[in-house]
Amino acid sequence: MRTIPILPAGRAGAGEGTRLSLLPPLALYVHVPWCVRKCPYCDFNSHAAEGEVPEAAYLAALAADLEQALPLVWGRKVVSVFIGGGTPSLLSAAALDALLAMLRSYLPLLPEAEITLEANPGTAEAGRFADYAKSGVNRISLGIQSFDDGCLHALGRIHDARAARSAVEMAQRAVARVNLDLMTALPGQTRDMLASDVRTALGFGTEHLSLYHLTLEPNTVFAKFPPAGLPDEDEAAAMHDMVVDMAGAAGLEHYEVSAYARQGARCLHNVNYWEFGDYLGIGPGAHGKLSFPDRIVRQARLRNPQSWMAQAVQRDGSHLAEDREVAADELPFEFMLNALRLRDGVPASYFPDRTGLSLAAIASALADATRRGLLDPDPGRLKPSPLGWRFLNDLQALFL
Ligand SMILES: C[S@@+](CC[C@H](N)C(=O)[O-])C[C@H]1O[C@@H](n2cnc3c(N)ncnc32)[C@H](O)[C@@H]1O
Ligand code: SF4
Repeated sequence: MRTIPILPAGRAGAGEGTRLSLLPPLALYVHVPWCVRKCPYCDFNSHAAEGEVPEAAYLAALAADLEQALPLVWGRKVVSVFIGGGTPSLLSAAALDALLAMLRSYLPLLPEAEITLEANPGTAEAGRFADYAKSGVNRISLGIQSFDDGCLHALGRIHDARAARSAVEMAQRAVARVNLDLMTALPGQTRDMLASDVRTALGFGTEHLSLYHLTLEPNTVFAKFPPAGLPDEDEAAAMHDMVVDMAGAAGLEHYEVSAYARQGARCLHNVNYWEFGDYLGIGPGAHGKLSFPDRIVRQARLRNPQSWMAQAVQRDGSHLAEDREVAADELPFEFMLNALRLRDGVPASYFPDRTGLSLAAIASALADATRRGLLDPDPGRLKPSPLGWRFLNDLQALFL
């Protein structure tokens, strides 16, 4: 992706810490916090909607949130938008249209910007998906999880396999780009069952798959009452290898830890995160990372939807739970944690360009990782070796 020059090369910005002569691409994340029901494994900032989603209040708060953030991104173009959740497909077509019109009125979205909307198959409607596309959504990400009724039931999903299949067809009719989320290592799931899920997903000619190993997250129902029949570690690893082979045979490249895509179909929004690009996050609990010539800032909004809505419209910054400059010594690990998730890594020049630090800051960790065979020896890239990709936690930990 392009990088926007902001200062002549070599000239430092104001301030003591970071010095950036370039700003990375800027993406926008919009969080929609409501779901039909809370899934027992989910630790996202998502809440069962009690009655109707308060669309008018949500849109007003979102506009107030964005207005307050505008001075931080003034003049910068937005390369991608991701409307995530929660379940954004709970929004009516009119609300989604108003949301995108509001974004466009405040921010210069590139004409070719990728605009993704996350959808739960239990909320899919052909007419609404078509309307979302008319408003500008050009990519739909469907939370399929499985095409097996037993697995969907064990996960407490609101939809069955038939609804999952018809949601894929509706999404593919509405937009050219569709991602399917599948979960693996599910209660009672065998390798054959997972193979059948992946075959079904690939059978739709899908261009992008996201595969997530079920994790028991703290403070979820599953953490308190773990489901029976979870595959053991060896079986889960065998499942993972099988999925990589199946996706590869179908022409989908395993380009990031959890992501598989046909050529040209990578999720540009997520790639920007992994390449340590900038992102503004609006909506309850949304996180952001924004660069300036002299600093890098992290922000987080209040998580509770009601509190965020009430505070955002005060227009006094009280909707922010966190707003702080990232210390220079935090940057190497944050950068490498992201970059090494990409199988091909990133150009080495991204490190100085996007952290403001010299590569000397990580020289000894790079040498150590290369010596252990975990990092590709190419000095032009920061890229895991096949061994480092397999033992990614060990590789990332070297940069702590
Ligand atoms: C925000 S949800 C996607 C959209 C929508 N909320 C839905 O569930 O259909 C993002 C994805 O994260 C994955 N996910 C959520 N909790 C997980 C967990 N505990 N373990 C593994 N994957 C998880 C699921 O695949 C889910 O589709
Ligand atoms: S629908 Fe998606 S975001 Fe909502 S609770 Fe379930 S997994 Fe979480």
